[in-house]
Amino acid sequence: YNKVLEYIYNRIEEYQLSDDNVDGYNRLRDEYNTNRKPLDLFVLISYSFNHQIRFNNNHQFNNPFGKYRSSFNNSIKNNLENFINRMQSLNIDFSNENFECFNFDFFNEDDFVYCDPPYLISKGTYNDGKRGFTGWNKNNEIILLKTLDNLNKRNIKFALSNFLIHNGKRNDILKEWISYNKYNIKKIYSNYDNSYYNKKLLSKTQTIEILVTNYKINYLNIDGNINNLFFDMEI
Ligand SMILES: C[S@@+](CC[C@H](N)C(=O)[O-])C[C@H]1O[C@@H](n2cnc3c(N)ncnc32)[C@H](O)[C@@H]1O
Repeated sequence: YNKVLEYIYNRIEEYQLSDDNVDGYNRLRDEYNTNRKPLDLFVLISYSFNHQIRFNNNHQFNNPFGKYRSSFNNSIKNNLENFINRMQSLNIDFSNENFECFNFDFFNEDDFVYCDPPYLISKGTYNDGKRGFTGWNKNNEIILLKTLDNLNKRNIKFALSNFLIHNGKRNDILKEWISYNKYNIKKIYSNYDNSYYNKKLLSKTQTIEILVTNYKINYLNIDGNINNLFFDMEI
């Protein structure tokens, strides 16, 4: 953690990063797009608009500066410290393989699979197949749901989060799949207050975000935040 923190503070010093120095931010962005050091990307995201990770078609990071809003603040610093400590206390393998290529063969009944895919009926920056992402369409959705059915057949527990309804649109593929397989479903009340961008787009009457599981859950409170409660629902 100390090594990582030292690197970050050196970068902040070198580029005079602050919540109003757009020039320093742009210079670090150029540096990252030339040398692609992962920690530079982390520093950039700390200062970028809504902390988003966005690229152009040449895979160059192009998210603008988050003037007066984004900086390497105490909250990011604490999360980083907790994250690094937790990673170092566990034996973890990370894989960046697409789920279609990922080998689930070595999973057994003691394993748990959580999927947080792009939402078919919303417009994430990674949904449309531009800016360096492969995109997400009905085909991907169906392959993912089949993958989960296969896990279910092998008694491996899964959870899938998704939008059932968003801005008046309904994900019928998801709805039919849940009904047909009689999977469990919980409505998620999310707190989007930290994101101006999402707050503008979402309203609770238009959006139903759900968690689908192949096992019964009674009550969940994901992060201790009262705004993230789950309630039973039927579709
Ligand atoms: C709802 S986000 C998940 C966010 C993640 N849980 C997190 O906390 O950072 C959906 C993710 O799916 C990825 N994605 C987009 N298209 C994909 C594809 N065709 N195959 C696999 N993953 C894809 C996106 O890059 C994005 O990170």
